[in-house]
Amino acid sequence: MVELNKGLAFEALNDRSDTLTLLETRRSASAKAMTGPGPSEAQLDQLLNIAVRAPDHGKLTPWRFIVFEGDARERAGKIVAERYHELHPGHGEETLELQRNMFSRAPCVVGVVSTAVADHPKIPEWEQLMSVGAVCQNILIAATAMQLGAQWISGWFAYDRRVLTAIGLGEDERIAGFIYLGTPAQLQEDRPRPVAASMTTRF
Ligand SMILES: Cc1cc2nc3c(=O)[nH]c(=O)nc-3n(C[C@H](O)[C@H](O)[C@H](O)COP(=O)(O)O)c2cc1C
Repeated sequence: MVELNKGLAFEALNDRSDTLTLLETRRSASAKAMTGPGPSEAQLDQLLNIAVRAPDHGKLTPWRFIVFEGDARERAGKIVAERYHELHPGHGEETLELQRNMFSRAPCVVGVVSTAVADHPKIPEWEQLMSVGAVCQNILIAATAMQLGAQWISGWFAYDRRVLTAIGLGEDERIAGFIYLGTPAQLQEDRPRPVAASMTTRF
């Protein structure tokens, strides 16, 4: 059974004093409670250049980014709401408004796109998919180090091909995650963390 850690004191979360402490205390901010400012242009550029330092077997760069900022968030939200309405015509305006606001909850949303291919002669698709996960985690860590809030979200529309096409994905591309970036409007409690020893064996 996985054992849970006692947890960190609230004030110890996202402690940026050094790299290990940051990694030990990092936790997400809630996309639902995010406000401005988001990353500056220079910060976003730095974040994405840190992201692409993820381990990548075969140097395939099996990922790319779509940035949603400013009006683009409303345009993307409209696509999400229209598709939602098509799938669930019975839902009222309140639900549609929620869908319309999907991308507007944070000042900046980075869509991390997996461009992994199944038929690469050397690198299994599994390894390409793990690499895109590392890209997402790099963004979370770097954003936290910049004192920004960040959360990795999928959401129903990350799996809806019609929405994906409308926001610019090719038919073989997938969303690894939408990373919401901004200033946390409220500080989140930590969640229970597992104790690694409870899932570790020695051979
Ligand atoms: C691939 C992936 C997709 C996720 N999608 C969602 C989501 O749609 N909604 C959500 O509330 N959390 C989602 N999460 C979980 C959050 O990003 C995050 O892990 C959780 O809030 C705990 O945060 P922390 O462990 O980073 O502190 C997802 C995580 C991953 C790895």
